Amino acid sequence: MKLNFCVPCLLGVEALIAREAASFGAGDVVSENGKVFFSGGFELLARHNICSRFSERLQIVIGSFNAYTFTDLFEGVKALPWEEYIGRTDAFPVKGYSLNSKLFSVSDCQSIIKKAVVERLKQRHGLQWFDETGPVHQIQFSIMKDKVHLLLDTSGEGLHKRGYRPVSLAAPIKETLAAALCEIARLKPYHTLYDPMCGSGTILIEGAMMAMNMPPGVKRNFSAERWDQIPRTIWQQERERALSRIRRDADFAAFGSDIDENALRSAQMNAAAAGVADKIKWKTAPLKDFAPASEKGTVICNPPYGERMEDAQQARLITQEMGRVFPAKHGWSYTVISPSDSFEEDFGRPADKRRKIYNGMIKCQVYMYFH
Ligand SMILES: C[S@@+](CC[C@H](N)C(=O)[O-])C[C@H]1O[C@@H](n2cnc3c(N)ncnc32)[C@H](O)[C@@H]1O
Repeated sequence: MKLNFCVPCLLGVEALIAREAASFGAGDVVSENGKVFFSGGFELLARHNICSRFSERLQIVIGSFNAYTFTDLFEGVKALPWEEYIGRTDAFPVKGYSLNSKLFSVSDCQSIIKKAVVERLKQRHGLQWFDETGPVHQIQFSIMKDKVHLLLDTSGEGLHKRGYRPVSLAAPIKETLAAALCEIARLKPYHTLYDPMCGSGTILIEGAMMAMNMPPGVKRNFSAERWDQIPRTIWQQERERALSRIRRDADFAAFGSDIDENALRSAQMNAAAAGVADKIKWKTAPLKDFAPASEKGTVICNPPYGERMEDAQQARLITQEMGRVFPAKHGWSYTVISPSDSFEEDFGRPADKRRKIYNGMIKCQVYMYFH
C-alpha cells in the first residue's frame, strides 16, 4: 500500500528531514515551511518513526480539499477512505487548528469532522455505533486559507521523546534540535565533540547516538504499532535492521562541562539511559577554563539566551568568553545556536556560515566557524 506522509518539523530543519527520508527509501520528497512530504509503504512508516533524528512526528496524509461552509467540510471529510485505516473498534479522536479561514471555530470543525468520519465508517463497516475501545488513530486537521488537510498521526508522543530523558523542569534543548545542530555541524563518527555549557547533555548524547548510528526511537513505542493494519513483523524487522546498523566501535569521544553540578548529574543519567555513557566524559567547570584535550575538535553549544533583561548582559559576556577561549586552530569548528543579533560582534569574528533556525518559538541563528 502506497501512503503519502507528512512530517511537521522545526522551521529550518526541513532540508535535513528531506535528506533523511530519502536515505530511508522515501519517494516524492518535497518540503515546504515547517513540513516535509514524501511517499512510501508500511516499512517506511516504521523505519521513519524508529530512525528519524529530526522529525517531530510522522503523519499519513488522508486528503485535502477547500471548504468554505460546514457542508463543504462534512462532505469533503466523508468522501475520504477512512475505513482503510480505522477498524471497527478503533478509537479516532480529532484535533486540529484553523487559521485565516471562513471556518474558524475549531470546536465546531472538530465535531463536524468527527460526525463525517462516523458517517463514512457506518456505511463502510456496516455498524451503527462505535465504542472506540481499540488502538488510537489520532485524526489531525489543519485549515489554512480555507484549505483543509486531514492527517492521521502514527507516532503518538512526539518523536523528540526518545525515552532517555525524564521530564525536566529546566528548559533543555529539544532532542530533535540538538540532533539537527550535530548534522549542521557535519559531525562525523571519528570526531571529538565538546559542549562546554552542556546542561543536561542533550547535544552530546544526540551527537554520540548519531556517531554510533543508534536509532533514536528504538527504545520507545509508536501509536501505529498497535494498529491491526500494519503487520507486527514489520516493526520487528525494522527494529532489528536499525539495531544491526549500530557502530559501537565508532572512534568517537565527547566531553561535556557546565557550572551546574545538578545538570551534570542528570546528564550522566541521561547518557546511561541512552546507552552512550562510555563515549562521554563530564566535568564541572566554567567556560573560562575550557581546555580541550584533543588536537582537533567539534564544539557545539546552546549557551544561555538571556531572554530576561537582567540576563542579557550575562549572555553577551558568555559570547565574548567563547570568542576568547575557543582556539582558532586548524581542525577546530564551532557551531553555536543563539537568538542574539550581536553574536558575531560579541564573539569577535564574523561567522563562516550562518543558518536560520527556530528553537520552539524563538527565532535563532546557528553561527558556524571552521578552521
Ligand atoms: C541553555 S542551557 C544548555 C542546555 C543544554 N543544551 C541541555 O540540553 O540541557 C545553558 C547552560 O549553560 C550553563 N552555563 C551558564 N554559564 C556558564 C559558564 N560561565 N560556564 C559553563 N556553563 C555555564 C548553564 O548552567 C546551563 O546549563
